[in-house]
Amino acid sequence: MITLKNERQLDKMRRAGALLGAVLAELKRRIEPGITTKALDELAERLIRDAGAQPSFQGYRGYPGTICASPDDMVIHGIPDEKPLKEGQILSVDCGLILDGWQSDSAFTAPVGKVSQEAAQLIRVTEECFWLAAAQAKEGNRIGDISWAVQQHAETHGYGVIRDYTGHGIGTQMHEDPSVPNFGRAGRGLRLRAGMTLAIEPMIAAGAWQVSTMHDGWGVVTNDHSLCAHYEHTIAITDGEPEILSRSEEACP
Ligand code: MF3
Ligand code: CO
Repeated sequence: MITLKNERQLDKMRRAGALLGAVLAELKRRIEPGITTKALDELAERLIRDAGAQPSFQGYRGYPGTICASPDDMVIHGIPDEKPLKEGQILSVDCGLILDGWQSDSAFTAPVGKVSQEAAQLIRVTEECFWLAAAQAKEGNRIGDISWAVQQHAETHGYGVIRDYTGHGIGTQMHEDPSVPNFGRAGRGLRLRAGMTLAIEPMIAAGAWQVSTMHDGWGVVTNDHSLCAHYEHTIAITDGEPEILSRSEEACP
């Protein structure tokens, strides 16, 4: 079922999103050689709880963390651990929270210290995929316009679009209808309406798109072990530019 959010509900999603934006900005600042993903996870949990919110990933289908921390060829759902990050790695961080009953979900990929040009380009193009998709996310357009925007930009660079995981509607639940694939055909699919709230999240591999789940039952890696980047925001559809909800101009409270 697709739910349209009214102004009062959007306001709650704005507040959840602003907090998540501040948390992720703080995590991004901390990413450097030597830090562990467990330390990032603990920091995220503290920032979220101190602000009176709850981490949405913890306990979701038994997930143990506040963030997903997925280095290098790991696509998503990396469980935070005690291994120090090394210069030259890339790290995808995905996090979600619930504030006053409303959810926000966002992810980014960052370099650990200095990285190769190839890695930096993958991160940049994945973010571009998101912004091109967001430009299509307006009333009257269709889900397929979002999907195609991601796919054509990624494939133009010879990258693979992960197909096994998609973006999604979001609201009082982390995952609501509709599903928002990162590949598809322009002009197809559900018509977008003002008040829909979506998590748009391109996951882009430098190589082929096929992936497998690791033995821990969570981590997802590219089969060819090519690097992967992820970029996600929670947005609200309007009759013009989408409102990017999971972003903050302010530092963490
Ligand atoms: N943030 C992911 C998504 O975008 C979900 C995380 S799964 C969890 O759909 F188990 F870690 F919560
Ligand atoms: Co998501």
